[in-house]
Amino acid sequence: MILSLMKSGVFMNLEKVIALDEKYHMNTFGKRMPVSFERGEGIYLFTNDGVRYADFMGGIAVNALGHCNKTIKNAMHAQIDKLIHTSNLYYIEKQALLAQKLVELSCADKVFFSNSGAEANEAAIKLARLYFYNKGEGFKNEVITLNGSFHGRTLATLAATGQQKFHTPYKPLMTKFKYVAPNDIDELGKQINEKTCAVMLEVIQGEKGVFPLSDEYMSAVRELCDKNGILLIFDEVQTGMGRTGKMFGYQHFDITPDIFTLAKALGGGMPVGAICAKDFCSVFAPGDHGSTFGGNPLACAAALAVIEEIECASLVENSFEMGCYFVDRLKTVCVDKIKEVRGKGLMIGVELYSPAAPIMKKMFEKKYLCGAVDNTLRILPPLIITKSDIDGFINALAEVL
Ligand SMILES: Cc1ncc(COP(=O)(O)O)c(C=O)c1O
Repeated sequence: MILSLMKSGVFMNLEKVIALDEKYHMNTFGKRMPVSFERGEGIYLFTNDGVRYADFMGGIAVNALGHCNKTIKNAMHAQIDKLIHTSNLYYIEKQALLAQKLVELSCADKVFFSNSGAEANEAAIKLARLYFYNKGEGFKNEVITLNGSFHGRTLATLAATGQQKFHTPYKPLMTKFKYVAPNDIDELGKQINEKTCAVMLEVIQGEKGVFPLSDEYMSAVRELCDKNGILLIFDEVQTGMGRTGKMFGYQHFDITPDIFTLAKALGGGMPVGAICAKDFCSVFAPGDHGSTFGGNPLACAAALAVIEEIECASLVENSFEMGCYFVDRLKTVCVDKIKEVRGKGLMIGVELYSPAAPIMKKMFEKKYLCGAVDNTLRILPPLIITKSDIDGFINALAEVL
């Protein structure tokens, strides 16, 4: 049925899609925006009856190159024609090349691939715990994170695995998380104890409503981790791959993490995540971790194409320049309606004086896609965005506000 639908080029109408969704799909996403897209091109998404939307949400920071970018499409088509998946029982050329590329671009020495951000973060936490276990420092099972942070939605899948041999280095099985206020170094210091193995944070809290951390705080966190011999993990699932005007968010600061995680834009729409670590804590050895799909030929071909395109089209630079332009324009338009503009590069939060969801809906009616959390509009456009695209968004927002 699916094949014949695709061949015919006929899309079900929206009401039918919604009816099927309501009947058969578990509803964790609430009431979605009333639209289903048939195709995408650049920054635009199109419904089957040809209505065009400008996508300023970029698949929640995933479609860094816009929709159906030629480089990714060609790389994926070529890979699909040859080989999609083999498993990690065998060496994978593109996986090795992608690991090399990420190491060359960053402070990391080693990489491991996953399929999502949550999975990459779970692996990063396991890595931190294993590091101390291997050093003979016992079971350090506490990780400190920040209030309002978002690191993914998986349960600790490890705890569910019924084989002692997989559990041993990670006992007690549940990692304990403590939450502290962002930008408050004293509070963080007070929570560190002999069980702490890591501090994990996002350099800009995206899901909370785009809240960056300060330079001083970042340096102080690094110092505190060094002083206490604990690992610093950055969750760069959203901030990585040029989103903030640097290839990786940590490059805005004078410090580097011991471990950082990537996903979202890494595959440009193809699910792929990565855990990137410095040599001293790249302690995964055979049997310590694994993945059926992680780093498969198709995912890695897509990610290699994403990086190639980011580099060739200078998209990190464009993210920085367009981010500055966007913020400048936001600050000159509707000043009285906007409380604060936050973010770096093309990860922008516009805080209003009232809830942002009604404004997001009005923008949707004007065929502009963006996000809303509390009073903040979230803007995460593809990194290929131009000044005239931004002008269009600003004009629509000015009218809506
Ligand atoms: C900072 C951060 N970490 C982790 C995740 C989880 O990623 P995924 O949905 O790919 O599991 C997200 C998703 O929004 C995120 O923004």
